[in-house]
Amino acid sequence: MIIRKSPAELEKMRRSGLLVYKVLHTVAEMVQEGVSTLELEAAAEKLILDAGARPAFKGYYSPAAGNRYPYVLCTSVNDEIVHGMPSKHKILKRGDIISIDTGVQLDGYYGDSAITVGVGEISPQLAKLLAVTQESLERAIEKVRPGNRLFDICSTVQKHVESNGFTIVREFVGHGIGTELHEEPQVPNYVDRNNENPRLKEGMVLAIEPMVNAGKPQSKVLSDRWTAVSQDGSASAHFEHCVAVTKDGPWVLTRP
Ligand code: MF3
Ligand code: CO
Repeated sequence: MIIRKSPAELEKMRRSGLLVYKVLHTVAEMVQEGVSTLELEAAAEKLILDAGARPAFKGYYSPAAGNRYPYVLCTSVNDEIVHGMPSKHKILKRGDIISIDTGVQLDGYYGDSAITVGVGEISPQLAKLLAVTQESLERAIEKVRPGNRLFDICSTVQKHVESNGFTIVREFVGHGIGTELHEEPQVPNYVDRNNENPRLKEGMVLAIEPMVNAGKPQSKVLSDRWTAVSQDGSASAHFEHCVAVTKDGPWVLTRP
C-alpha cells in the first residue's frame, strides 16, 4: 500500500527535507583534498543533533547486511556506488568524486537526499557522469504529477542515462518515504515489467535516487557488508531527492 500524506504531513516532511539540504550542502562545502570522510560525518552529525532531529541512517538495520549502519552519512567515493562508510583513513584526493547521502527524522517524518561532487578539478568524463546523473533525476522529477505512472519516472531516468552511454545500477532502488525511511513503492531507475506500475496520486512522496555507473552496471558488496561498488571498478554517481505529488505538480521537499 502506498501511503498518501495530508498537507500538514507534507509540511513536516518539508522541514525534514530542508534540514537534509542544509546538512548536505554544508558538508559539500567542506569537500577538498586532504579531508577525511569521517570529518564530514562529524560535521553532519552535529548539524542534525543541533536541529533536534535524529540521524535516520545511524542504527538503521539492514537484513542484507545483518547489522545496523553505524554512521549518519554514506560517503561513497569513486567506484563506490552507495553505502560507503565514513573513515578517518579515507582521505579525499584531487580528481575524486564523492556521493554524500544522508537522512533525518524530525517530528516523526523522514527526509533523505544525496548529491555527488568532485574534489577539486575532475576529468571531463567524470564531469559528464555527474551531469547526466543529475539531469536524469531532474527529468524524472518533472514526471511526478497526478495521473502519471511510476514507470514514467523509471523510464525517464533510464532513457537519459543509457542514451548518454552510462549504465543503471539495478540492485539498489528509490522508495516511498514518510513516517518510515523506506515505504512502498520501490522506485527503480529502470522499467521492470515484473513490477507494478501504480498511478501517482496527490500526497504520495517518492525518494528518487539514480545510481549510475560509467562502465558496466553490475555491483558487489564489500566484506564490510555495506559498501556497494561497481564490479568493474568504474566510477559511480548518485543523486537523490524526496518529491511530493501535488495537484500543481512536483514539490521537491529536499531543496529550497
Ligand atoms: N539513501 C539510501 C536509502 O534510502 C541510504 C540508506 S543508508 C542506510 O536507502 F544506512 F540507511 F541504510
Ligand atoms: Co533513499
